[in-house]
Amino acid sequence: MVSIIVDPDLCTRCGICSKICPAMVIGLADENTLPAVWEDRAGMCITCGHCEAACPSGALRLNLHGGEREIRSPGTGVIPPGELGIYMKKRRSVRHYKKKPVSRDLVERVLDIARYAPSGGNAQPVQWLVVQDPEEVRKLAALTADWMKSLMGTGHPMEGYVSPFIAAWEKGSDQICRGAPHLVITHVPADNPGAMTDAIIALTYFDLAAPSFGIGTCWAGFLSIAASSYEPLVQALALPPGRKCAYGLMFGYPQYQFHNIPERNPVQVTWR
Ligand SMILES: Cc1cc2nc3c(=O)[nH]c(=O)nc-3n(C[C@H](O)[C@H](O)[C@H](O)COP(=O)(O)O)c2cc1C
Repeated sequence: MVSIIVDPDLCTRCGICSKICPAMVIGLADENTLPAVWEDRAGMCITCGHCEAACPSGALRLNLHGGEREIRSPGTGVIPPGELGIYMKKRRSVRHYKKKPVSRDLVERVLDIARYAPSGGNAQPVQWLVVQDPEEVRKLAALTADWMKSLMGTGHPMEGYVSPFIAAWEKGSDQICRGAPHLVITHVPADNPGAMTDAIIALTYFDLAAPSFGIGTCWAGFLSIAASSYEPLVQALALPPGRKCAYGLMFGYPQYQFHNIPERNPVQVTWR
């Protein structure tokens, strides 16, 4: 049963924890009582931790795993919009990689950020498969090439698009996984269609966080589409039972750096 721990010496009874709770499970404090989870509503807590995150005096802790919590002073992590804009606009898909492997420690640091991606109801259904071995990445790219070949003559809408990728593969050039040394794949419960969106958001967090560690990424479109239906690839991924591939990214150290920000279409927006 979820509960909150409140330090009576620090709690100012400001009521923010109660007001901010999206599931409305925390009773307001008064002069004689501390804020507390209503017993009959405790099951509705989504463990988002907003009560803890918004407590201005650091008095409240959501009692979940008993792990360390990070206390940050106000203003920590505030990025000037100009800097954030340049950082995000500078991110480019990386299609040429160095052979140097990315250490597991570094990948874990990116994943530690990605696990903070929002998810519906804070359900956190996304899990990760990291393919560290470049040989295994090649094997998965080969299976994706086999999937492309299987589309030929079927009238599949991607048939025309994939033929140059097959031709390149046959000539020994991997335009499918772009010769990347590693892959990261998100997977979700097969019976939860909403979780696919959570996976894309989590992968976007990975995609955006990676460059600050010097890691380049590229969305693995062909492999991800093939992994939704091509049985040999599904088997090779060997995801845990009941889970399906949501989407994947190639990653590694970029061979080339991007210095300039290219143009994009003007934003199209309707204001009402
Ligand atoms: C869902 C998705 C799938 C993609 N699949 C591939 C892919 O299979 N191979 C590839 O080289 N690039 C792939 N890309 C990268 C896009 O081509 C790229 O994002 C786009 O050209 C814009 O370039 P930028 O990411 O450098 O801004 C994919 C991107 C997205 C968002």
